[in-house]
Amino acid sequence: MLKGKKIVLGITGSIAAYKSCLIIRELIKKGAEVQVVITPAGKEFITPITLSALTHKPVISEFFSQRDGTWNSHVDIGLWADAMVIAPATASTIGKMANGIADNMLITTYLSMKAPVFIAPAMDLDMFAHPSTQKNLRTLQDYGNQIIEPGTGFLASTLEGKGRMEEPVNIVAKLEEYFSKQEKKDLLGKKILITAGPTYEKIDPVRFIGNYSSGKMGLALAEECASRGADVELVCGPISAKLTKEYPNIHRTDVESAQQMYEACKAIYPSMDAGILCAAVADFTPEVVAEQKIKRTGEDMVIRLKPNPDIAKSLGEMKEKGQILVGFALETNDEENNAQGKLKKKNFDFIVLNSLRDEGAGFRTDTNKISIISANDKKDFPLKTKKEVAEDIVNELTIHN
Ligand code: CTP
Repeated sequence: MLKGKKIVLGITGSIAAYKSCLIIRELIKKGAEVQVVITPAGKEFITPITLSALTHKPVISEFFSQRDGTWNSHVDIGLWADAMVIAPATASTIGKMANGIADNMLITTYLSMKAPVFIAPAMDLDMFAHPSTQKNLRTLQDYGNQIIEPGTGFLASTLEGKGRMEEPVNIVAKLEEYFSKQEKKDLLGKKILITAGPTYEKIDPVRFIGNYSSGKMGLALAEECASRGADVELVCGPISAKLTKEYPNIHRTDVESAQQMYEACKAIYPSMDAGILCAAVADFTPEVVAEQKIKRTGEDMVIRLKPNPDIAKSLGEMKEKGQILVGFALETNDEENNAQGKLKKKNFDFIVLNSLRDEGAGFRTDTNKISIISANDKKDFPLKTKKEVAEDIVNELTIHN
């Protein structure tokens, strides 16, 4: 998996810097090429001579090579790399990365990096737990960087024992996992419908009934399916979240109301292999939409609502042999029973349950905590990023395939 891969290893000033030798040894053993970029503080902990002996390449630490004045191009390194790993990453480097403070070669290289970036923090617990460090790590995660931490990662509800750098073998394993996933095209040739986001139900030309769904979970699912080779039909309610990049195999249809989403899905689903219904569809819509903006009259205001079509239930009824249908349930109480009920009623193959009682789950977060429930099985997962949750859901899909 790592054979021939070009890895930039960023090393910063932490006592864990000696462990970067083990990372290099492991990477080289697996056939990777390693270019070290080290900060001035990093050199206080480990010598460039040791590092270059291991990588068989000069170590880069300054903008200019000291001897002949040649310029080290961070842009070229950014283009050369298949991945960048910063291990150990100190609180200071993490802060600079999150805020674009490019005062050394490592940060400029990071800012020019075209390849995915993995960050293994190393610091004491107090520094790690400080809101500033936590905020910076979240920012870096929002930028699409992967934080490598022992256990369930920095999103875990307890910070106890945190901050210690992940073991070198596990850091290398994360890289292998990334490259193996890149090569994994287990959904090639599959067509998958995904609904995402809220629906807006019009009251008058300027008002609507909506909900807090951000669409992020649906987008993460679309990206996961597309990166594993599927052709994705993404039917999206009104959302401002965006895909992290363009995918030629994601075809997007934007809709506003539940009725429009229903019509789009009904037309698309018959030619699909699977449907993942992640949208938070409004169950009701105003019976009449006022043509003009409704004015204040001083009287009470009553809006009569009529039921919307249940997209999931209709698709469940249309479902043919060999097709898969996956639903979501966001519950506040009696979660498992409600989810079981929806599984049967809507003819889902499995249902993804999130409870609003779990912190970090549901709407308006970048994380989610789910259980996957099928007729005779229940799997509970820890709090993860929506990207990681999407991977778990798609893995489950491949089992039912
Ligand atoms: N769903 C749908 N169309 C609807 C309502 C829901 O496709 N009109 C889908 C959702 O995308 C989700 C699943 O059905 O996958 C369950 O949604 P939920 O709102 O929890 O279900 P409801 O049947 O509306 O149940 P509740 O009474 O709890 O609102």
